[in-house]
Amino acid sequence: MRVLVVGGGGREHAICWKLKKDNPEIELFCAPGNGGTAQVAVPVAVDAEDIHKLLDFALNQKIDLTVVGPELPLSLGIVDLFQAAGLKIFGPSKLAAEIESSKAFAKDLMKRYGIPTAAYQVFSDEQAALDYINSVGVPLVVKADGLAAGKGVVVCRDRKQAVAAVRECFQTHPKVIIEEFLTGEELSLMAFVDGITVVPMAPAQDHKQVYDGDRGPNTGGMGAYSPLPHIDQSVIEAAVNKVLIPAAEALVRENRSFTGVLYAGLMLTEQGLKVIEFNARFGDPEAQVVLPRMEADLLEIMLACVEHRLDQAAEITWSRNAVVGVVLASCGYPGPYPTGKVIYGVEQAEARSGAAVFHAGTTLKQNQLATAGGRVLTVVGQGADLKQAQNLVYAAVGDISFDGMHFRRDIADKALMKSGQKQAAGS
Ligand code: AMP
Ligand code: GLY
Repeated sequence: MRVLVVGGGGREHAICWKLKKDNPEIELFCAPGNGGTAQVAVPVAVDAEDIHKLLDFALNQKIDLTVVGPELPLSLGIVDLFQAAGLKIFGPSKLAAEIESSKAFAKDLMKRYGIPTAAYQVFSDEQAALDYINSVGVPLVVKADGLAAGKGVVVCRDRKQAVAAVRECFQTHPKVIIEEFLTGEELSLMAFVDGITVVPMAPAQDHKQVYDGDRGPNTGGMGAYSPLPHIDQSVIEAAVNKVLIPAAEALVRENRSFTGVLYAGLMLTEQGLKVIEFNARFGDPEAQVVLPRMEADLLEIMLACVEHRLDQAAEITWSRNAVVGVVLASCGYPGPYPTGKVIYGVEQAEARSGAAVFHAGTTLKQNQLATAGGRVLTVVGQGADLKQAQNLVYAAVGDISFDGMHFRRDIADKALMKSGQKQAAGS
C-alpha cells in the first residue's frame, strides 16, 4: 500500500511514525516533510498548499491513501479535488473544514444547534466593532475570521489592547469576532469521524502561551500531555455527547458531512464545558502525545473513516501510559525568528528509552540538522504516569541544544499539581 502524508510539522512526523510503526510494509511519502519525516517517509518536494501538484503526484505514483495534516490544504479543497479524481483521502471536504477555517461559520453553527460556546458577535465594520467594545467593556477576546496558524486570537484585558487588536485584525481579515472572555481549565478532545460515527481519542491539554504560567502571546502550541488525570471522565463524556456528536450531526444536516479528525478545543468553566474552537484536523502538538498512546492501527481506522464504516472498525484502545510533549522553539517565536541554527543532541535524546523526537521546523544542512521554523522539535517522553513522563521528557530536552532555543518548563505541571503527584514525588 502506498500512503502520502501531506504536511511538514511535528504532527505529520507523529502521523508518519505511527503509520509506519503499525504497518512497516507500507510505502510512505511525505510532502513536503521535514528532517524527521525523512527517516520514515520518502520526501516529496511539493508544499502542502500546492494541491494540484499533490494531485499530479498522487495520480502518477498510484497513491492508495492520502492523509492531510494541516488546515490550509483542507481549506483550499484538497479533499474535494482528490475525490473528484477518484482517489482516497483522509480529511474533511472544503465545506466541512469551514468549521475551522471560518470562526464565524463555526460560531453560528454552534448557536443554531445548541452547542455550548462563549457569547459572541461577528463584525465586518471596524467602527461597529469598536463601539461594541465600548459598550461591553473588557476583558474580551478578539478573533480573526480565518486561518491564522493559532495566532489570530488576542485575549484583551484592557480597552486599549482591544482597540489595537480589532484594528490589526481588520487589516488582514474582512470579519472579526469579539467573544466573551471565559475562565477555566482548557482541554483538547479529538475524534475520528466518518460522517455520523464519532470515535473519541484520549484527551490532551495544550499550552498555547509562549511562557511558563500561561503568560505571553499565543503560539501554535508549546507543549501537551495526555491523559488528564485531574479531569473527571464525566467531563470527557459530556464533551463527546454535547459537543462532538452534535457537531458531526449538525454538519451532516447542513450538507457538509465531516470525515477526518474533528478537534474540539474546550474550556471547563463554572457553567460547564464551552467550545473555544473547532479544528478540522489533528492538533499540533496534541497529535504528538495522543498518537503514541493509540493501540489501534491508525491506517485501518483512517481507511474505515474514508470508507464510511467506522462503526464496524476495531475498538480503539489507549495505552495506560502517560505522554508529555515539549516544543523546542526558535528565539523570537511566535514573532520573527532566525533559521539555519545547527541542532545538537537529538540522537542522545532519542536513545533514552521511552523518549521520541518529532521534527517540525528542521532541515538537513550539509548533513547537519538545522532549524528551519518557529516550532523546531517536539520532544516526547512516555512513562507509567505523568510524573515519570515529565521527568523523562525534560531529561531528553536537556540533551538537545541550538542557538536561541526556548521552551516551557511547566508542561503537565497543572495536572501534577492538581492530582497531587508532584508533592508525593517530592519535587
Ligand atoms: P483559539 O485559536 O480560538 O483556540 O484560541 C487560542 C487560545 O486563546 C485558546 O486556547 C485560549 O487559551 C484563548 N481563548 C480563546 N478564546 C477564548 C475565550 N473566549 N476566553 C478565554 N480565552 C480564550
Ligand atoms: N494545538 C492547537 C492546534 O493544533 O490548533
